[in-house]
Amino acid sequence: METRLLPAQAESIHTAADLLRQGEVVAFPTETVYGLGADAFQAAAVQKIFLAKGRPTDNPLIVHIAAWEQLERVVSAVPPDTQMLMEAFWPGPLTLIFKKSENIPDSVTAGGKTVAVRWPDHQIAQRLILAAETPIAAPSANMSGRPSPTTAEHVLEDLNGKVPLILDGGPTPIGVESTVLDVTEKVPILLRAGGIDREDIENVLHKQIVQAESASITVSLPTRSPGTRYRHYAPNARVVLVGGTSHPQESIDSSAYLGLNTPQFSVTTAVRYRDSTEMMQRLFHDFRELDKAGISTFFVEVPEHGPYREALLDRVTRASQAEK
Ligand code: TXA
Ligand code: MG
Repeated sequence: METRLLPAQAESIHTAADLLRQGEVVAFPTETVYGLGADAFQAAAVQKIFLAKGRPTDNPLIVHIAAWEQLERVVSAVPPDTQMLMEAFWPGPLTLIFKKSENIPDSVTAGGKTVAVRWPDHQIAQRLILAAETPIAAPSANMSGRPSPTTAEHVLEDLNGKVPLILDGGPTPIGVESTVLDVTEKVPILLRAGGIDREDIENVLHKQIVQAESASITVSLPTRSPGTRYRHYAPNARVVLVGGTSHPQESIDSSAYLGLNTPQFSVTTAVRYRDSTEMMQRLFHDFRELDKAGISTFFVEVPEHGPYREALLDRVTRASQAEK
């Protein structure tokens, strides 16, 4: 299959919407990372996402909406507290888990009774969803296990020949995925840290939310948060989490430091970020670039304080756990 990469404009968005209606998949930008979308109501189209990405079929997808009436078609109930969250953070990088409507095919939810939904805060994503006149199921548009794509070129690197069209909307502004929050229980459960910080959610709800790790004591985590079982975000290089006084001891062929400080140990190259926001924007991009430069070990230092600490720590920890 030939993969077309087109700048996102009125005409290409129209073409992309036609493809989606015909049951094809299309990659498109959101404010977090690029997504690989299909019509959420066409089971056969959704299957193509799993095939293109090499994604395990027991890992459910997020349904992207751009109008309130689309939410009604996707979920069967909206818990009262959730209204406040949607008003505060939608459109934006917060994914909420609801009880699903009967219309949503099993392939989207991996056979489960819940569905993940978010309203992306990105012009091109919104225009595409509205032009296709259907909610769009979409995971990140990377090969399964690889760092999520923050540019159209990253999508092409991973999915060339596997998808008909990539809409290029430039680099994504946030750079890591949405926060995933399960609101189907009395106390909301944070399944994935992301573009919205836990404190900001708690400030809106005026109560604490539970981390998935501690929730696993009372509920079965594998069924709750399927994606957390899989290796993620891994570049080809080995990733080592550093910080505080823990300095790497080993001598290494070629290495990079990524973080806010000046590394206190010798590296081939140091990538320094202004703040954690810039680190979020650039981390996955720099993983890919440093891989291309042949660097074999990445020493990553996550800021100890400040926004997005949880999201960054989660991504780097998972990348460091990947088998090499
Ligand atoms: O920012 C984002 O969330 C991006 C953009 C494209 O919207 N999407 C994204 O999708 O990161 P994906 O598939 O890479 O990650 C979705 C996560 C996975 O960990 C998945 O297991 C979880 O959400 N998830 C999806 N549906 C779920 C459900 N019904 N219950 C629990 N977890 C669910
Ligand atoms: Mg993903």
